[in-house]
Amino acid sequence: MPIPPSILILGAGELGTSVLEALSRHPKHSSTKLSILLRKSTIETQDPSKRKQNTYLRSLNASLEPGDLASDSIAELAAVFKRFHTVVSCSGFGLPPGTQTKITRAALAAGVARYVPWQWGIDYDVVGQGSAQDLFDEQLSVRALLRAQDAVGWSIVSTGLFMSFLFKPEFGVVDLEGRKVRALGGWEGRLSVTTAGDIGRVAAEMLLDPREGEEGVVYVAGDTVSYSRIKELVKERFGGEWVEEVWDEEFLKGELRKRPDDGMLKYTNVWAVGKGVAWDMGSTVNRRRGIELQNLESYLRDMPDL
Ligand SMILES: NC(=O)c1ccc[n+]([C@@H]2O[C@H](COP(=O)([O-])OP(=O)(O)OC[C@H]3O[C@@H](n4cnc5c(N)ncnc54)[C@H](OP(=O)(O)O)[C@@H]3O)[C@@H](O)[C@H]2O)c1
Repeated sequence: MPIPPSILILGAGELGTSVLEALSRHPKHSSTKLSILLRKSTIETQDPSKRKQNTYLRSLNASLEPGDLASDSIAELAAVFKRFHTVVSCSGFGLPPGTQTKITRAALAAGVARYVPWQWGIDYDVVGQGSAQDLFDEQLSVRALLRAQDAVGWSIVSTGLFMSFLFKPEFGVVDLEGRKVRALGGWEGRLSVTTAGDIGRVAAEMLLDPREGEEGVVYVAGDTVSYSRIKELVKERFGGEWVEEVWDEEFLKGELRKRPDDGMLKYTNVWAVGKGVAWDMGSTVNRRRGIELQNLESYLRDMPDL
């Protein structure tokens, strides 16, 4: 399969920046024009930290393409996307509901050769409609749109939970400061995790060295671990006393009834149900391609002592 002549990344948050870094370092990138779509106000910002970020993005050989994913119409976005071979959405969940569907319609209207939607997460087909996280229903609508056509090639890269989320106290699994380690659902439940940097590396391989069999939904994971293994590794790494708790489905449903607008609690509920959140390492693109990714044990080793 040919190397794409141009790639447009939507958004330069944690994920978009990782994807761009990996693309710009990839040995096959030299003939590919790299661009990042950002709001005009972000490109022209006077804010010193954003200016620094823009300088950094340009230093990675990316041109900055103005566009607004929230307010531009399908036709306006399609006019931009048309100029690119591949469009990769890294625009985050912070956009209004319906935006990922709009971006997908724009990619289809533009007739790009390859589209990678914002689906860096779990197996939404298995999670199904009507999960506790209402944002996930839109992921299924995007899949339906893509599956209903065959003009635009697409890949959905399922990455599991971003590894850093395991350590967000509000997600609940590891609370370093509170010295608490918890299972969502039960200790034998499993989840797949990948660092944002590694997601960028695998995405760059898939984009610049495309291979048959990687169209449609594919899986990536730095690790697939049970909560009991997480507990064991965290205790081994940091030592000392740890509070161990289970947040089971019933408990988390009750919490969500009390705080129905708590976005993180919606995620936690989905992981407690445990459907579509884990896959075997043998089924991953990284294993098939022989790409070494960071697992939980090595991620913990790199963390500072408590
Ligand atoms: N499976 C998982 O666990 C998972 C999956 C995905 C993400 N996450 C987490 O979710 C969080 C967000 O992810 P992220 O880093 O990819 O996204 P992000 O930090 O929210 O970045 C979004 C990017 O989109 C840009 N953007 C925002 N509104 C825009 C608009 N209207 N038009 C064009 N561009 C716009 C932002 O630019 P501005 O500077 O202009 O705002 C930024 O560059 C992270 O903490 C990540 O770790 C977790």
